[in-house]
This record gives sequence, C-alpha cells and structure tokens, in this order.
Amino acid sequence: MQIVHTIADLRSILAGQAKTAFVPTMGNLHEGHLSLVQMARSHGAPVVASIFVNRLQFAPHEDFDTYPRTLERDCELLRGAGCDIVFAPSERELYPEPQRYTVQPPAELADILEGHFRPGFFTGVCTVVLKLFNCVQPRYAMFGKKDYQQLMVIRRMVKQFALPIGIVAGETSRAADGLALSSRNGYLDAEQRAEAVQLSAALRRIAEAVAAGGRDWAKLESDAMAGLAARDWKPDYVAIRRQHDLGEPAPGEPLVVLAAAKLGSTRLIDNLELPAP
Ligand code: PAF
Repeated sequence: MQIVHTIADLRSILAGQAKTAFVPTMGNLHEGHLSLVQMARSHGAPVVASIFVNRLQFAPHEDFDTYPRTLERDCELLRGAGCDIVFAPSERELYPEPQRYTVQPPAELADILEGHFRPGFFTGVCTVVLKLFNCVQPRYAMFGKKDYQQLMVIRRMVKQFALPIGIVAGETSRAADGLALSSRNGYLDAEQRAEAVQLSAALRRIAEAVAAGGRDWAKLESDAMAGLAARDWKPDYVAIRRQHDLGEPAPGEPLVVLAAAKLGSTRLIDNLELPAP
C-alpha cells in the first residue's frame, strides 16, 4: 500500500487508471469504513482511500480541532482491508489558498435536517468531495448510508455535474447492541456508550409502529423526541421522510427515519430505511 500526501504524487501513481474505486474518509477509521474499502475492491482497482479532516464542513463551535487524527493506525487498518493507495493531504496541500469557489447544494435538500442544524455543512462536504474527485478521478466512489443525507446530496451533485463516477452506497455498520458505528462514538464515556443504543432503539420503535399501521408521522416523531429527551438526550430531530428525496411521506413510497441527538456533548446521527407503508 502506498501513502501519498500530495496531489502531484497521487496523479502520477494513478496516471492511466480508468477503474479506480475511491473511499473518502476523515480518518479515525472503524469497521464501517473498512467495509466500504472491501466493497470498493469488488468495484474497481486500484482502491484509493483519502484521509482528510475537512475544516470547511465544521462550524466554528464544532469539533474540528479535537477530531481524532490517527493516521498511523488508520493506515494499518487500510492495509489490512486491502486498500492500495492512501491519499492523506495536508490542509495546505488541499487548500493552498482560501477556498473561495464552493459547491452550493440545493436548499430543499441541503438546508433541511442536518443542514438545518449545521448550516453550511453540505457546502463544505460537496466542495471537498468534488475536489477529492478531481484529484482521484475515480470510476466508483463509496459512501455509507449512515450519513444518509450526505449520500443523497453527493448523488445529486454527481448527477447535476455529469461526473463520470458511480456512487455506491454501503449499509450502516453497527455494534452488537445496534449502535451505528461512528468516529464520534469514541467521545462517549462508558455510561454514555451504554445509553447511546437508545438512538437506534428509538428508530426501531418507529419502524415497528409503522409496520403495525401507525401513520401519524408527527406524533411518531414527537413521541420519539420526547422519549430521548426524558433520558437526558438533546434531540435535534427525529424525522420520517421519503427515501427518494427526503420529502414528506407519501403513500406507496419507501420511507427512512432519520435522527440526530446530543448525548452529553457528543452529537450522534442514525437512520433506518422502512418499506413503503
Ligand atoms: O463522511 C465523511 O467522512 C466526510 O463527510 C467526507 C465524505 C469524507 C467529506 O469530508
């Protein structure tokens, strides 16, 4: 496995490769990332993973400075998962000057849910992902469904800019108790880690209620929010939406229930796809 830090080195290694499969990450890797690498191996070669903590997608009060940087460990994990090339640029390499050209995803998709609570987040994500795509020029790129809205925003960007890249979605990897794997789970202390499973449990209860005929979406959402709040969570949203465009539920359309909530100072997100009611 080669580890490169500059765009020039990456381009020279990848010159002439038409079937590159790409896994963008911010490092501090877990099984979820590694399963995307394994999926990438079945889609193309070489497999490139990027590790870059992207300042543009963090608000000033968020955890950019404290986000865990674990390059050595990440590279070992990537080597074990069969990655061929790690692209780990410095901030100066990827943003040698202030990034004044940015990608503005459409408000109806990017200013709701995560975008509502993290204004500018998807502009930061799209801008870095487009730039990484330009560096790697992959044929396929892998994104986890754990970041459901991000996956959708990226798919639309690729479509609207006619990028010749197939976006492949990976299922959410979960711990044995159901907690969605996330780099931010590492912020939880033992007590919070035990409590954290309540987020996926709340989503599962909604899935069961919908399967049993529940159709009062607003009540299902607010009951779940109240349940979390009663356990000392600070929920940002629990939202039942159409899978297709994250719009309001419509008869016969598959749904997804998405949630974000803070446990102590750690903000966790999760989602669960539901069949069409
Ligand atoms: O999902 C992530 O880890 C990040 O948002 C991404 C796609 C690597 C862009 O920084």
